Amino acid sequence: MKILKLGLLLALASGVVALLIYIVGVSSLYQFPRLSDEDFEALQSLQSSFQKCVSANGLGLQASSGKDVCQVTINFPSNTVSKWKDPKTGELEGLSFDFNLCEAVATWEQVRNSTTILTKEFIDALPNGWEDYAWRRINKGILLNNCKNRTLCMEKLSLVLPEIPPYYPRQFDRCAVIGNSGDLLKTKFGKEIDGYDVVIRENGAPIQNYTDFVGRKSTFRLLNRGSAKALDKVVELDETRKEVLIVKTTIHDIMNKMIREIPIKNPVYLMLGTSFGSAAKGTGLKALEFALSICESVDMYGFTVDPGYKEWTRYFSESRKGHTPLHGRTYYQMMECLGLIKIHSPMRADLNRVVKWLPSRETIRAARVASEKILRRVGAASADPLGACAIIKKQVKKSSVSLSSHKRAVIEHQRYVRGATMYPLERSPGHGLLCSVPA
Ligand SMILES: *[C@@H]1O[C@H](CO)[C@@H](O)[C@H](O)[C@H]1NC(C)=O
Ligand SMILES: *[C@@H]1O[C@H](CO)[C@@H](O)[C@H](O)[C@H]1NC(C)=O
Ligand SMILES: *[C@@H]1O[C@H](CO)[C@@H](O)[C@H](O)[C@H]1NC(C)=O
Repeated sequence: MKILKLGLLLALASGVVALLIYIVGVSSLYQFPRLSDEDFEALQSLQSSFQKCVSANGLGLQASSGKDVCQVTINFPSNTVSKWKDPKTGELEGLSFDFNLCEAVATWEQVRNSTTILTKEFIDALPNGWEDYAWRRINKGILLNNCKNRTLCMEKLSLVLPEIPPYYPRQFDRCAVIGNSGDLLKTKFGKEIDGYDVVIRENGAPIQNYTDFVGRKSTFRLLNRGSAKALDKVVELDETRKEVLIVKTTIHDIMNKMIREIPIKNPVYLMLGTSFGSAAKGTGLKALEFALSICESVDMYGFTVDPGYKEWTRYFSESRKGHTPLHGRTYYQMMECLGLIKIHSPMRADLNRVVKWLPSRETIRAARVASEKILRRVGAASADPLGACAIIKKQVKKSSVSLSSHKRAVIEHQRYVRGATMYPLERSPGHGLLCSVPA
């Protein structure tokens, strides 16, 4: 009996070992798919422009290549004094940050063709959208029993849930995203900011009394949880009362009540969530993501991105708890050197500053295609514009008629995607999209 059992155990163990060898073997084989020479050159060309771009524009930052053609490290000068301590570990922030350029170029370029506002169309099209997803966007949604009572869930979301997206990719030309950094008080950017087609602000950022520095115009405002709960106060910040409010967390009963009863006439929407790994998850990055999904070009003001960080101050209040300032600065520099944004700061105050060594559109496109292959993204390198769609849903589109009133860039893009609306799917393997196409 004993021997039999032992034999069984041995057989099982060797089975497990064989399986492990198989898994490890297969996954290492698949780690770096074979690239064509063209793909490899595209990534090398991106790396080399990128590194030159960081040295030429980063005010002391230097980029060097990492262990493969995707990896890059951005370093601060060694005499930089790190000030910010991680509250959990008590450790000072380091002076060196690793980034995966392939990941960044593939994910951010996808944002430019995506819709980042939550719609009813999205929830309806998502498999089990109401049961698995909708309740997560409602504060205390866990008590809603997976939206068993759909009427109730719908009721809670209805005030912030448009049927279809209110904005299209490329709808606006030049957009400015305004952070809340105290650095804004060093330069009178007000007039310049008002010259943009769209201005996107964050949380409780005041305009009145600061217009010389931050401008008057305000088109959108991205709100975190705390600001969204004070919606009544937030709407007072913009005198025109036309600002569109975009909440990055959940809808809250308090918010619903305010919208109904005060009443708040500004449009209010929820933002779809996509994940950009460990990089700053603050309102600033969300605002950039939203801007990139609706604008041709995105300029950034009021982020703490110059050398000499001492403490985090906001332009309208005393110093507060900041977070990962050095990491943030490198991340935004990476975004600039991938052609996603242009940084404006006290030390880079010339509106017409040219970002030197910016990789060309063609290099970015080729590098994006190569990156999709490396990362095994859904529809990698597919010629089909709907190749990245993990879910395709045919819908009767009520609004496609109104498209003709839009700019050429919108119409051309819509023609390219055959009228599809593309939503990034959160945590979807291979970063697939949910695509709603005209029936
Ligand atoms: C579902 O919610 C609606 C709206 O609150 C309510 O009127 C209805 O009674 C609920 N239905 C059930 C079966 O609980
Ligand atoms: C602007 O300044 C005036 C006068 O000091 C003050 O009453 C008002 O509350 C300020 N507005 C904001 C939004 O801070
Ligand atoms: C986004 O759309 C443009 C056309 O407007 C297309 O050229 C580009 O390849 C698309 N990008 C992605 C990541 O699908």
